[in-house]
Amino acid sequence: MSHAVVNTDNWEEVKAECIKHLPQDVLDYIEATKDEDRSESHLISILHKIQAHYGHLSKERLNAVSQLARIPLTKVTGVATFYHYFRLTPRGKHIINVCMGTACYVKGAEKISQKLIDELGIHFGETTKDGLFTLEAARCVGTCGLAPVIMIDEQVYGPVTPNDIAIILDKYTKQAIKGGGKG
Ligand code: FES
Repeated sequence: MSHAVVNTDNWEEVKAECIKHLPQDVLDYIEATKDEDRSESHLISILHKIQAHYGHLSKERLNAVSQLARIPLTKVTGVATFYHYFRLTPRGKHIINVCMGTACYVKGAEKISQKLIDELGIHFGETTKDGLFTLEAARCVGTCGLAPVIMIDEQVYGPVTPNDIAIILDKYTKQAIKGGGKG
């Protein structure tokens, strides 16, 4: 496993290691703003730029942000994990969105979420170890009449009950086995 923080307190070595983990536009942005702005919105901008570049954050990248922007790692990690739209790991082959809009919420979206968490063994923002599913939360997906709904990629399922979840997931798992994980 690689770590952004090398085993040294030599700043030049730490910096050289950290630079490897961030794209140039983020390095330029940190450099241009580090002396003037350490607010949370500044940190969120940095994390957005990293996610836009790579598709997800990682421990190494968070470490690099902490060192280069001189923001405590606990704060960087706290912000990255607090907001659902930041991902710490790559997205899976299928993206499951649980609608948390009002209509779905009152019709039991929380129970559906819990069932997905139990079945997949992951939390929101995480991806299963086999890379097949990423679990995310969405606002109203525009099909309130079917509440509660989940979306898997572009496909809407609703109304769903906790008992439906295993059956729906099974369909994708079987497809993956049949396709040898391709396509
Ligand atoms: S609230 Fe879930 S589809 Fe509208």
